[in-house]
Amino acid sequence: MKAQPFWPGAPMVMLVTAVFGAAIAPVVLAAPAADNLAPRQRILFNDGWRFQLGDPDDNSAPYLYDIRPEVLKSADGKVADAMPEEAARIARSNAALLKPWILPTGNAFIKDPAKRHARPATGPSFQAPYAQAGFDDKSWRAVQLPHDWAIEGPFLTTGPYGGMGRLKTWGPAWYRKTLTLPAADKGKSLFLDIDGAMAYSSVWVNGQLAGGWPYGYNSFRIDLTPYVKTGADNQIAIRLDNTAESARWYPGAGLYRNVWLTKTAPLHIGQWGVQITTPKVSRESAQVAWQVTLDNDTGAAADAELSTQLYALDEKGAISGNAVASVITPRAQVAPGAGTVISGSTTISNPRLWGPLPTQQPHRYVALTTVRSGGRVVDKYETKFGIRSLRFDPNSGLYVNDEHIPIRGVNNHHDLGALGAAFNVRAAERQLELLQEMGANALRMSHNPPDPQLLELTDRMGIVVMDEVFDSWERKKTPLDFHLIFPDWHEQDLRSMLRRDRNHPSIVMWSVGNEVGEQYTGDAGADIGRKLAGIVREEDGTRPLTNAMNWAQADMPLPTTVDVISLNYQGTGIRTLPGKFPMFREKFPDKVILHTESASAVSSRGEYQFPVPGVTSAAVRPGIGGDTKTMQVSAYELFAADFGSSADRAFASLDQNPYTAGEFVWTGFDYLGEPTPYYGARSAYTGIFDLAGFKKDRYYIYKSRWRPEEKTLHILPHWSWPDRVGEVTPVHVFTSGDEAELFVNGKSQGKLKKAPYAYRLRWDYVVYEPGEISVVAYKDGKEWARSSVKTTGVPAALEATADRSTIAADGNDLSFITVRVTDKNGMTAPRANNKVRFSVEGPGELVATDNGDATSFVSFQSPERAAFNGLALGIVRAKPGSAGAIKIRVSADGLKESVITVRSTR
Ligand code: GAL
Repeated sequence: MKAQPFWPGAPMVMLVTAVFGAAIAPVVLAAPAADNLAPRQRILFNDGWRFQLGDPDDNSAPYLYDIRPEVLKSADGKVADAMPEEAARIARSNAALLKPWILPTGNAFIKDPAKRHARPATGPSFQAPYAQAGFDDKSWRAVQLPHDWAIEGPFLTTGPYGGMGRLKTWGPAWYRKTLTLPAADKGKSLFLDIDGAMAYSSVWVNGQLAGGWPYGYNSFRIDLTPYVKTGADNQIAIRLDNTAESARWYPGAGLYRNVWLTKTAPLHIGQWGVQITTPKVSRESAQVAWQVTLDNDTGAAADAELSTQLYALDEKGAISGNAVASVITPRAQVAPGAGTVISGSTTISNPRLWGPLPTQQPHRYVALTTVRSGGRVVDKYETKFGIRSLRFDPNSGLYVNDEHIPIRGVNNHHDLGALGAAFNVRAAERQLELLQEMGANALRMSHNPPDPQLLELTDRMGIVVMDEVFDSWERKKTPLDFHLIFPDWHEQDLRSMLRRDRNHPSIVMWSVGNEVGEQYTGDAGADIGRKLAGIVREEDGTRPLTNAMNWAQADMPLPTTVDVISLNYQGTGIRTLPGKFPMFREKFPDKVILHTESASAVSSRGEYQFPVPGVTSAAVRPGIGGDTKTMQVSAYELFAADFGSSADRAFASLDQNPYTAGEFVWTGFDYLGEPTPYYGARSAYTGIFDLAGFKKDRYYIYKSRWRPEEKTLHILPHWSWPDRVGEVTPVHVFTSGDEAELFVNGKSQGKLKKAPYAYRLRWDYVVYEPGEISVVAYKDGKEWARSSVKTTGVPAALEATADRSTIAADGNDLSFITVRVTDKNGMTAPRANNKVRFSVEGPGELVATDNGDATSFVSFQSPERAAFNGLALGIVRAKPGSAGAIKIRVSADGLKESVITVRSTR
């Protein structure tokens, strides 16, 4: 049977019949041919970059990707749920623009050949000085990727910059690196694979503009082959041109994810060219099917024979044991050009299924695909995947392997607090560990494709994911956001996300948008929704798609375009509007309904304000949870953005509508930018954890609900109020028990039982006296847990603890050092704000500090950091290659210092 070019979405034809293999011993692969077409190399290309902000002074080169509208009115401070405005109309002119050379980079993701872009016959009409090999970049700064140049600040303490995190992320920036290619690379296909570049990148190779990608969150590939010389040095230069007014949060800036150099034989597996599905899954057996896309750059038809081995992976992602299946596909002809698909499948018995923790295990497999041509191995490719079944039931939600999985999730933006947007595996893993400890089992990638390593983590750690592509379509939210390029790029950006991410077992649904302005445009908006849905279905028929809606009503056209109805806030009820779950349920009885954004509750860790209103949920106002002078929000965890609600109110709305699939809380962690309600601050207040990753009180209300088997009992506020003696100081308790009794210095304040749809116990008339408050919680009438909080003394000492005391000396691994300010008895001084100094000796370095205070404009690089309500954080990295003891000393005037050691190992 002859292979034919295949386009995903065309009727599925089995192109080459695979030989179905049962479990057999591993096949010994033919040794790679000893010539220069040996199988692929994928080389991390992160070292040795030089970096410079700005274009050359005397530069007359225009460099603009496209005409940008003039921003007449800054929209940075706009409230989060404000109705989007019409997109900017751009007056076209004939100015020199980079767009004609950039657009062809996306051709592989445009289905209609007639719509693909022809590259202009010659380069742009100007020379780019920074892109030339002869340019001397020795004075430029040496940097290591991933690199976010904007996180260094300084903070923009005045002006309307809160929305984007008060850090300047905009303006041109250049990165340069020499690529030395040995003569043996002659004849190979050579690619630069960029996992993400913020934003409007143009990639120059030996002075020529090779391509680029405008959207800063997607991964993309530049074909270097036509522009490089082998046996020689080549100059790579990447220009980024992030714009102001382009995001509603901190986007970061720079080459903030990994960059790879990929070398292959001319006949090779295409970019993200292996798609694996598991169409039939049971505990006894699973069908595993694959489609392998081959690109043939030889210019002539070639023969290809595929063999596929499947192996189980261990917890760390390494191959364990023998191949569980091995399948050889008969030889096929591969036409010159891109996109010949060869399919195969097999059945394996007793599969180890992938499923979310804690009730299932995230077992994974890898498919090793070997391509032989002319009797030689020309390519080898690894694809990790998981075997699991998904089912969606409108009456209850998500089922993984036939087990009901209530979605207990959070939304997160992509910044990693003090580390900015530069992706770091350990920093992301720490966030996921903290979320899992709380009982979360799900993550929504709000509102853009994540670093691919985050999906590797969610696969490995057993967390279900909603992968999301856009925050805006044709209608804008900020003046220069994605709407400017939506018409030209939506297809490429959507297909590239889907192809990159489709083999991750953790992804259970795709989202094509968040609160897009097309909710307001009736049929026209729905047409776009349908178009995007069509693309999703062409690329991946195995998962449902959704689109998070905060405004579209059940009888409007947009909701008809999705498989899963996702509601932001309006499920619970926005402002005074009633919760909308029942309306959507009535209109769409066959669709799953999910709370894609719940709560948007706001608080500052450790800040308690009085009086405490007797409500369960309120919008923050001066004196009602908010203080415009300090820009802090009360930590009684009753307050929310205007359109949001407390955690309690969101829980009630889900419990009153038990068919809902669950919730993604806005947000897991505070993030840079969008500091509702105080736009003068640097970071959001919505996190369950603050920006430093410290737990707010809210953590315990979620843990009580999501891990009911754990004996959680948390009391708030702290009990050190010298100025409140004799004043009413409410005590609230979050517990997985159902009843509790509070004692103040041994005197009972009464026993309370949780009322229906109530999720906290509250003693609102307690009068403060120093000493001890203690609580005994009960469950089903039996004692369940006890806890107490004592009045503390004045700050006397620091106590540093490391989240991990051994880290890898790989230049990436991190230890997070928490510093507590304590009284002389070792109790945290809850209001302490002493200035802590960090110093590091040995083979490690301090990379950032923070304290979780949304109003702090101290540089994240500062080794001095005031504690915020008793806590400060230092982030320490091991230097690459040098093992040994890293000594971390923390000191503060008048306090006993603390010294700890973290070992770095090779
Ligand atoms: C939602 C929006 C989020 C964020 C949030 C603020 O409306 O989807 O991106 O803006 O509000 O709390």
